[in-house]
Amino acid sequence: MAEEQAQTEVKQQEDSEEQVVTPWVAHAGEGQTGIDYEKLIRQFGSQRIDGDMMQRIESVTGQKPHHFLRRGIFFSHRDLAGTLDAYSSNKPFYLYTGRGPSSESMHLGHLIPFMFTKYLQDVFDVPLVVQMTDDEKFLWKDLTVEEAHRLAFENAKDIIACGFDIEKTFIFSDIDYLSTEPSFYKNILRAQKCVTVNQAKGIFGFQDSDCIGKISFPAVQAVPSFSTTFPKIFGESKDVQCLIPCAIDQDPYFRMTRDIAPRLGFHKPAIIHSSFFPALQGPQSKMSASDPTSSIFLTDTMDQIKNKINKYAFSGGRDTKEEHEEFGGNTELDISYQYLTFFLEDDEKLTHIKKEYESGRMLTGELKKELISVLQALVSKHQERRKKVTDDIVKTFMSYRPLTFRAAE
Ligand code: TRP
Repeated sequence: MAEEQAQTEVKQQEDSEEQVVTPWVAHAGEGQTGIDYEKLIRQFGSQRIDGDMMQRIESVTGQKPHHFLRRGIFFSHRDLAGTLDAYSSNKPFYLYTGRGPSSESMHLGHLIPFMFTKYLQDVFDVPLVVQMTDDEKFLWKDLTVEEAHRLAFENAKDIIACGFDIEKTFIFSDIDYLSTEPSFYKNILRAQKCVTVNQAKGIFGFQDSDCIGKISFPAVQAVPSFSTTFPKIFGESKDVQCLIPCAIDQDPYFRMTRDIAPRLGFHKPAIIHSSFFPALQGPQSKMSASDPTSSIFLTDTMDQIKNKINKYAFSGGRDTKEEHEEFGGNTELDISYQYLTFFLEDDEKLTHIKKEYESGRMLTGELKKELISVLQALVSKHQERRKKVTDDIVKTFMSYRPLTFRAAE
């Protein structure tokens, strides 16, 4: 298929002048203000979520599409039509997403795929599996196995606080699930046999100096896309389709997965991709948990949120008040405005702010004030919900058990 042939050999150099997006590197091309997502769609060979697809989503779900869709934050897909067809004809499907638990506290950017996954679980009423790749983070980061495993549980609390349905959601640590369910490892073996070292290098940019754990890891992230990886949930059926919401940097894993699926007699998973959540400093980069000034953390206090935005949020406003009033602010560069497109749900209010800011009637300080109040509300609600997530609740979400959902009844 043309799409899989589009697995262009990824150049890995951090200092490349070209735009590079892999699961580990994301930087814009030389002289670009941000990632060129149209170019990524062409490079990766995915489909843009166009007007027709939006209408299809609206008619199938019977409601206005999520604001992440309306605003082009989830902007690309593979085979989404297949998932919508399955849903319309009452065929079962499930959602699969994940998180690499590399740090204690998650930031706003990490929330995006989970907020969207929660919406998908609600509108489609489907089961969800969440992979915590403690194994991956052990291999890639400077962490002990024990620490990575512990972080999987810590991060699970933030994920649960997003509101997932406890009857329909299974969150698993790779380390634990591998020692629990032989079908997981059987599918990993099947996947590993399908991909050569050469192909893995082409897709992921692995080097000869990388440890062998890294080279075999992609199979681990691939197989939760196949329903037989979870026999307690889906039985022996190979027929339950999978939809994966993720940030577009995870696409290489799922291009590989889609490539090998037919050879193993599995459905190709469908994918829906989001753009990156930009760092406070500007759209050139994504938020990074390792740079505390680039991110708003879910553990930040209300004061920290206020100060970080006032101090670091890149402004698209003019240098002086006079100039600003004459020429207006640039909402495309302005991080406070960009963040509002993620978190201010009210379309009318957002349009009004855009008009006011671009006309120069609204100043950067007022724009920041809007954002501060939106984020303080969001983060404090998150913190309240997280506090209610007890160890027992985490244990239930993370215990391997049958889930209840429409098709299973
Ligand atoms: N590799 C991802 C990360 O580092 C975690 C992950 C595992 C994932 N499976 C996934 C992300 C499926 C999205 C979809 O965060």
